[in-house]
Amino acid sequence: MPLRPRFLPSSLFRKHSRHFNVLAIESSADDTCAAVVNSSRRILANVVIKQHAVHEEFGGIYPMSAINSHQQNMPYAIRRALDDSRLDIVKDIDGIAFTRGPGMPGCLSVGMNAAKSLAAALKKPLIGVHHMQGHALTSTLTSWPNEPKYPFLTLLISGGHTLLLLAKSNRLFEILATTRDESVGRTFDKVSKLLGLKWTNLGPGDALEKFCAEEIEVDHPSVPPFPRPLHGQLSYSFSAFHSHVTNFMNEHGGHEKVDILTRRALARAFQTAAVGHLEEKLILGIDLCKSKNIHIADIVVSGGVASNQYLRKRLVSCLAEYDRHTSYHLSFPPPHLCTDNAVMIAWASMHRFLANESDPYSIELRPKWSIEDL
Ligand code: KG4
Ligand code: ZN
Repeated sequence: MPLRPRFLPSSLFRKHSRHFNVLAIESSADDTCAAVVNSSRRILANVVIKQHAVHEEFGGIYPMSAINSHQQNMPYAIRRALDDSRLDIVKDIDGIAFTRGPGMPGCLSVGMNAAKSLAAALKKPLIGVHHMQGHALTSTLTSWPNEPKYPFLTLLISGGHTLLLLAKSNRLFEILATTRDESVGRTFDKVSKLLGLKWTNLGPGDALEKFCAEEIEVDHPSVPPFPRPLHGQLSYSFSAFHSHVTNFMNEHGGHEKVDILTRRALARAFQTAAVGHLEEKLILGIDLCKSKNIHIADIVVSGGVASNQYLRKRLVSCLAEYDRHTSYHLSFPPPHLCTDNAVMIAWASMHRFLANESDPYSIELRPKWSIEDL
């Protein structure tokens, strides 16, 4: 007898006499992902095919190559997810979910068309999911049974977004802060490129974190202090960090001329400043909730940049210092579920499937889509 999911009304539970199994597809940026997750919170398959080898030479995601790679990889990702789950798509899969937006239109279409064709051919219900809702709800899957309770604050830091949200329910989100220019993830990527770092298998942001963490020198060359953009305001801006590194590298003849110790000092100063910016806005967000008498006990940090271990440690100590009397429960999904994956898409669709909702097979993409408009 399967465990009864806690959020499933008894009438629906009787209807689904076993777990509800979702096959999900995600292709909003440069990872081709397929996963199978069931309503009892079991991840039965999680396939992520990275495209870093294709994009490294361009120093970022090159859209045409990303689309081509999704087209090549998607059938294998789906096949492997089904094999890993040991489920039969006809008999065992109950619903198909995909990322409807936001994201790169050509990339999203590959996943959407695969999902629509499978759903229509097999007469399965279909649901299109908001990518950032997927990131925001991952902790409600991975932190169980200590999952965050609504309302909670969620800081979503990825390659496309920097968002501080008040999550009021699994489909009601209020944006407390967003970026005025580029996202924190994109800034990590650009700074990594300016410093001439070789990508790790997890990409340029991870390369920058690893470069900062290498503990080989005793003396640290000094580098000019970083700016503090929008200080005191509940809004993000990262372009000044990126310009600061650009100016320094240009003045010193580019990464080939700047020695490794100086480059590492610059990388560390950047990472410290960028995380400080995120910390400051998180505290302003908590203060805002307090001023509105909204009681927050949980804070969730997710999205690719949340896999950064330095950032995790800093946020933990920042919250401990901010308020010694209130202990906020800070949760991070495991790093491989912070970066893009289809598990989060399956999970974000689950409450809708279980409420017998579905989208028409004619559903359209929403490459630009605010999370407040779910
Ligand atoms: O959520 P995600 O996988 O994709 C988007 O939705 O955009 O986030 C990708 C971003 C990239 O900018 C990547 O460089 C950054 O997350 N990232 C990191 C780390 N791992 C991935 N940034 C800093 N430190 C990391 N360890
Ligand atoms: Zn993402």
